[in-house]
Amino acid sequence: MVNPSRPVRVVQWCTGRIGQISIRHFAANSAFELVGVYTTSAAKDGADAGDLAGIAPLGVTATTDKGELLAIDADCVHYAPLRPDLDDLEALLRSGKNVVTPLGFTFPRPDDEQTIRLQAACRAGGTSFHAGGIHPGFVGDIFALVGSRLHSRLDQVVVTEVVDFSGAPASEMLTAFGFGRDPDEAHRTHRLALDAYSQSIGLLAAGLGLTVDRYECGLTVAVSDEDLVVASGVIPTGKVAGMCRRWEAVVDGRSAIVFQSKWKMADDLTPEIVNGASRYIVEFFGEPATTFTIEANPSGGSAHPGQTWTAMSVVNMIHDVVAAPPGIRTHLDLPLGRSRGLFH
Ligand SMILES: NC(=O)c1ccc[n+]([C@@H]2O[C@H](COP(=O)([O-])OP(=O)(O)OC[C@H]3O[C@@H](n4cnc5c(N)ncnc54)[C@H](OP(=O)(O)O)[C@@H]3O)[C@@H](O)[C@H]2O)c1
Repeated sequence: MVNPSRPVRVVQWCTGRIGQISIRHFAANSAFELVGVYTTSAAKDGADAGDLAGIAPLGVTATTDKGELLAIDADCVHYAPLRPDLDDLEALLRSGKNVVTPLGFTFPRPDDEQTIRLQAACRAGGTSFHAGGIHPGFVGDIFALVGSRLHSRLDQVVVTEVVDFSGAPASEMLTAFGFGRDPDEAHRTHRLALDAYSQSIGLLAAGLGLTVDRYECGLTVAVSDEDLVVASGVIPTGKVAGMCRRWEAVVDGRSAIVFQSKWKMADDLTPEIVNGASRYIVEFFGEPATTFTIEANPSGGSAHPGQTWTAMSVVNMIHDVVAAPPGIRTHLDLPLGRSRGLFH
C-alpha cells in the first residue's frame, strides 16, 4: 500500500540508458526515494548512482550483490536489464517488492509457464508486476485504447512505429534486428520478434472486445546501394539498411489491427521504408477516421525522447502498481495512471 506521507522507495535494476534516466528522475522527483541500484558490471560495483547517471552523487551505491537488494526494504523495482531473468523477477516479487518493467510482458498468456511462475511469485510476496514501455507497452496498447473512445465505428486500427537508427551506437540489438546482415538472415529471425508485439496487439484487441482468429506477419527489407556510414559503423552495399515489420490481428476474417515497425538507417531506401524523424502514428479507420502522432517537440532538448518515454511509461505507474492487488497487472487491470510529482 502507498503511504501518501512518504515517498515510494524504489530500486533501479540495471544502469543502461533507461536505468540512468530513471535514476535521474528518482533523484529529482520527491514522490520517489531511490534506496538501491543493481548493476551487472563489476566496474560499476560500489559506484554512486548519481555518478553513474551523470548527476551529483546521491549517496546510494550500485551493487552486483542481488541478495543485498532482495534484503532491503523497498516498495518497487524498476527492472530494466538488457534481457529478463525469470529467476530474478520471481525473487524480487517474492521478497515483497512490486516490479515495473519495459521488457515486454505487456499481456502475458495465462497458460504460459512464465506467467504461471510470475503469478505465483506475486501471490507469495503479496506484490504486483506491470510491464509497459513506449512500444510495445504504450502506443499500441493504452494510448490506442484511450484514442478509440473518440470513435463511433472502427474498421481497422493501424499503429506505426518509425525509428531512425542512423545515430544509434553499435549494439547487439541492432545486429539482432538484422541491420548490416544479409536479407535472408533478417527474414529468418523475423518471427522471433513477434511475441512482444503480439502481446500488445492482444491487449488492444481484448480491450476493444475482439477475439483474434490468428496473427499474420510480414517483412519488407531494403538493402543499402552503397557503403553507408552510420553511428554504429558501416552498412556494406547489399546488406540490410531498412525494414518494415508488419503484424496483423485477423478478426472475423479481416485485418482488424495492424502494427508496423519501420526501422531504417537512411531515408530514400529501395523499396521505400519511410522517410523522416522517429515517431509513432496511430490511425483509426472508421467514423470518424483519425490520426494521432507522437513525436519529439522541437522545443525539447532530448536527442532520444523515446528512451525517456520508455522509462517514464512505467515509472509513472509505480504508485498505482504499488497500490494494486497482488498479481500481474496489465493496462486492462490498472487505473489510467496518475503521474506524481512531474512538475518538479
Ligand atoms: N518496450 C519498449 O518500448 C522499450 C524501448 C526501449 C528499450 N526497451 C528495453 O529496455 C531495456 C533497457 O534498455 P536500455 O536502452 O537501457 O539498454 P542498455 O542501454 O543496453 O542497458 C541495458 C543494461 O542491462 C545490463 N546488462 C548488460 N549485460 C546484460 C546481460 N547479459 N543480461 C542482463 N542485463 C545486462 C547493463 O546494466 P549495468 O551496466 O548496470 O550492468 C546494461 O547497461 C532493454 O531490455 C530494452 O529492450 C524497451
